[in-house]
Amino acid sequence: MRLRDCHNFHDFRKLAKRRLPGPIFNYIDGAADDEVTYRRNTASFERCDLVPNILRGVEAIDMSVTVLGQKLAMPVYCSPTALQRLFHHQGERAVGAAAAKFGTMFGVSSLGTVSLEELRKAHKTPQAYQFYFHKDRGLNSAMMQRAKEGGVDVMMLTVDSITGGNRERDLRTGFSIPFRLTLGGMLQFAIKPLWGINYITHERFKLPQLDEHVDMSGGAMSIGRYFTEMLDPSMSWNDVAEMVRAWNGQFCLKGVMSVADARRAAEIGCTGIVISNHGGRQLDGSRAPFDQLAEIVDAVGDRIDVLMDGGVQRGTHVLKALSLGAKAVGVGRFYLFSLAAAGQAGVERALGLMRTELERDMKLMGCTSISQLSRDNLRYR
Ligand SMILES: Cc1cc2nc3c(=O)[nH]c(=O)nc-3n(C[C@H](O)[C@H](O)[C@H](O)COP(=O)(O)O)c2cc1C
Repeated sequence: MRLRDCHNFHDFRKLAKRRLPGPIFNYIDGAADDEVTYRRNTASFERCDLVPNILRGVEAIDMSVTVLGQKLAMPVYCSPTALQRLFHHQGERAVGAAAAKFGTMFGVSSLGTVSLEELRKAHKTPQAYQFYFHKDRGLNSAMMQRAKEGGVDVMMLTVDSITGGNRERDLRTGFSIPFRLTLGGMLQFAIKPLWGINYITHERFKLPQLDEHVDMSGGAMSIGRYFTEMLDPSMSWNDVAEMVRAWNGQFCLKGVMSVADARRAAEIGCTGIVISNHGGRQLDGSRAPFDQLAEIVDAVGDRIDVLMDGGVQRGTHVLKALSLGAKAVGVGRFYLFSLAAAGQAGVERALGLMRTELERDMKLMGCTSISQLSRDNLRYR
């Protein structure tokens, strides 16, 4: 199987599975507990159907959107994800370059493996910085200052990870940073030597957003301990309101799921929210973002930009979310599997297929711009 044989999400996933050692594939593919929410995130899009219109003159399609003050050439962006150079040695560099090629936004994680400054300098396309809130307020200020000086366009504070989700696949393989593999996990690395050769022949693994502030070297601090010891479980609305004021720019809360929280986010001055359950990786049994979208758009959509992510695999999923009122839609595993499959060429192929699907689907829906999509286009089963 080659990259040119990949025509959809499932093909990229299959190729990624062939290329990655099992523990790394399962880190990407896995989710919390019984992974019910993970499955439902995608299944939720099947609850309703698109109702197309015909004969509307659809030769020229404009799928651009303006969201969080950024003009995006397509309504799909790359959600921030951790540890990308583990998945392919090009990591965030590949994702940033592919996002720039398609004129869309990409998020850089606090647990990213390339520095936000390097990525900012390399690409003009909108860049979001995903932030975790630390107990040490001085550290929060220093990191925000650094992001401001680095030229980050959107601050994205993740609020659904107040504690780590229960990822049982990782417990079985021993996936953690630094690696603490089980015997079975080690064997799975041994049978994928190409990954190991790539890993050791490229730049040393690091977490540049954190390395300056936290000693992650030589096993001094694991990511698990970073979450339990350094992040602040007492984070409150007042803390976030203070951060919003200090940032004084586009500020987006990622991981909002209730109408009440969406209202509160608008009240404290957030300019956007991402309805998200972290790709089902945190609270299993929680609702799918697509299922929460309509009521949240109705409550705050006239005041702030409502985005969503979770389970998106197809152009039609994106069109359904936009029809309900989302301003843009994030993807995670969709570009991670393609990154793992073939680096930058993989992500470019995935985003290219998504753009082609969107264009085709908009034509078949009878609309030439995103603003023509509405709830009239949808019927629930
Ligand atoms: C491997 C992996 C790592 C992730 N790392 C982060 C992260 O560091 N910060 C964050 O806010 N979200 C993170 N996410 C969640 C994504 O930003 C996004 O919400 C989720 O992947 C969307 O679901 P999808 O994968 O079904 O598209 C991660 C997701 C995956 C799959």
